[in-house]
Amino acid sequence: MRIEVIPVTGLPEIADGDDLAELISSHTELRDGDVVVVAQKIVSKSEGWIVEIDATHAREERAKAIIQETARVVARRGEIVIAQTRHGFVCANAGVDASNVQPGRLALLPLDPDGSAERLRAALGRNVGVVISDTFGRAWRIGQTNVALGVAGIKAVRDHRGEKDSFGMELEATIIAIADEIAGAAELVMGKSDGIPVAIVRGLEGISGEDSARALIRPPEEDLFAVAGVDVVELRRSVRAFDVRPVPDEVVARAVEAAATAPAPHGSRGARPWRFVWLKTSEARPPFLAALREMWRSDLRTDGVSDETISRRIDRSNEILEKAPVLIACFVSLGAADGYPDERRARAERDMFVAAGGAAVQNLMVALAAQSVGSCWISSSLFAPDVAARVLGLGPEWQALGCVAAGYASDPPAARQTADPQGFLDVR
Ligand SMILES: Cc1cc2nc3c(=O)[nH]c(=O)nc-3n(C[C@H](O)[C@H](O)[C@H](O)COP(=O)(O)O)c2cc1C
Repeated sequence: MRIEVIPVTGLPEIADGDDLAELISSHTELRDGDVVVVAQKIVSKSEGWIVEIDATHAREERAKAIIQETARVVARRGEIVIAQTRHGFVCANAGVDASNVQPGRLALLPLDPDGSAERLRAALGRNVGVVISDTFGRAWRIGQTNVALGVAGIKAVRDHRGEKDSFGMELEATIIAIADEIAGAAELVMGKSDGIPVAIVRGLEGISGEDSARALIRPPEEDLFAVAGVDVVELRRSVRAFDVRPVPDEVVARAVEAAATAPAPHGSRGARPWRFVWLKTSEARPPFLAALREMWRSDLRTDGVSDETISRRIDRSNEILEKAPVLIACFVSLGAADGYPDERRARAERDMFVAAGGAAVQNLMVALAAQSVGSCWISSSLFAPDVAARVLGLGPEWQALGCVAAGYASDPPAARQTADPQGFLDVR
């Protein structure tokens, strides 16, 4: 195979409503089998995904636009934000870009780049492929390269799994991102500032097909690098509505493993005071929840709350506890606590264990979030500690810490506005 990469020169500055197909066709001679690579920026311009900002507050306006375009922050340091967009792309600033647009404006990514590619392909009126490309950085490696945001008329990936290598060994993981490779090849002639937003890649064989750039986005459950560093702590949000998709056992096991690394009082003596009871089978959950419900009902009756209000509150809480794909009752054992004759030290000793229990629960939830699993800490067993331990067959030394309800979020939780540390930090 011999490939040519041909820049399309002489295109004018693109504006909202411009007919890209017409402009491309009048500036180059397309042949069947060509792949037309179009820079995302001109697609955004022609589709009107350009926002005007108040130039006197350009920084703030840009930050606001990035938040709006962000589905999930992956990593953040100072003003650098690597975010996942609603399309699923992970890139700097959620694709919000001030380069190659007029001052006082920002370009956003097109709403549906696959749809844009498909429309352009139809309008070009030839048997060509279309790739809408953007320039992304890569974790681990210096330097950016072009990737495919939208694809039409070609395969996005070439799956070699199941084929044999030259020594007869079966390939287990090789999927070549051909649409990204084509975008990268086109970038060689496009450049970032030479005003060449379109290139033709000619001579490719065996790539025609129906596909979409979504095929290039790794599903969250396969993503070993979903979040970075300290960002994972901030990523965790309370999730209260879950998808029915089950959470794999190994994901829960890994989270419990991380939970159990929390600092523990008397840890130097080997104390590992946690117990996470995963109420996994269909028989395990109902008696536990029924016992908590009865305790709560009796507490609320004592408070003089009406039966109607009691039912409403219990139903609301039950909704999460019954439906969450994973429910883990969390306990800390006071068995290794030192005894003291006075109330003050005895209480401090108990507080140490409960505080450490909280650290373990937080570890559990953060470790779930790092694996793309949402969770919520539900307090009811804390209010009925004896009942909770008894129903689960644990001795009286086990202090209930509440339950963690978990599962894949049915709607991604809103990105967190991180708190100003000045509000919490007292430096003296
Ligand atoms: C000890 C503890 C008990 C909690 N109990 C409940 C609960 O019973 N129901 C609930 O919906 N959320 C519960 N939460 C979750 C908080 O409401 C939640 O953390 C808070 O709204 C902040 O939201 P975020 O977790 O997304 O930052 C509990 C949190 C803690 C720390």
